[in-house]
Amino acid sequence: MQALLAQVENLVKAKFTDMEGSHDWFHIDRVRKNALHLQRSEGGDPLLIELAALLHDYSDHKYNGGDFDKGVQEVSALLLKLNAPQALANSVAQIVGIVSYKGAGVADEQTSLEGRIVRDADRLDAIGAVGIARAFSYGGSKQRALYNPNISPTLHQSKEAYAQDKGHTINHFYEKLLLLKDRMETSTAKQMAAQRHLFMETFLAQFMQEWNP
Ligand code: ADP
Ligand code: NI
Repeated sequence: MQALLAQVENLVKAKFTDMEGSHDWFHIDRVRKNALHLQRSEGGDPLLIELAALLHDYSDHKYNGGDFDKGVQEVSALLLKLNAPQALANSVAQIVGIVSYKGAGVADEQTSLEGRIVRDADRLDAIGAVGIARAFSYGGSKQRALYNPNISPTLHQSKEAYAQDKGHTINHFYEKLLLLKDRMETSTAKQMAAQRHLFMETFLAQFMQEWNP
């Protein structure tokens, strides 16, 4: 199984090396480290967790032309090609299908302990100092404004509405990043999220103070 992990890591590293800073190899590697950190206190199958963390953004709808199902199919096909057992490929693919945030008004799907760990690990990387940096990197890559006081946040009620939103980056905090703390499911991630959440609130207060002196 070590060989399988090493093969997956090399493939993912190669695929993500030239990606923009919000979704590059370092994001994948931080999510893997967060996930294995959560596993040490929460339990769960470490191999399943590490494979799902490495593959969670393998075919993200934001970068594959808008297809929400392609990630699951591609990950399952890749693992079978690498001779992974069918049950393991299915479990990894199931997790890859539920990790993504789909809007403030869209409930997270129920999943396994390993799925909750990988989803929390991905969300920890979306908040705090790194989360702030990633949001502005993504916004910049899409030519979005830092902030526009005339455009208020939208609490999206469907994954399609969330995916189509092209608003400024400060709105993303109210539409997603500030909501993640209360969506964490493992107690270890809840504790880690509290401090990162406070840091974002401090950042936003300072940002608004500088915008409106
Ligand atoms: P997921 O990883 O759950 O699929 P998203 O697709 O919402 O979540 O985005 C992942 C990360 O990409 C966000 O945490 C953020 O850093 C960045 N991002 C996505 N959409 C936006 C946006 N509209 N504005 C700023 N950053 C964004
Ligand atoms: Ni991710």
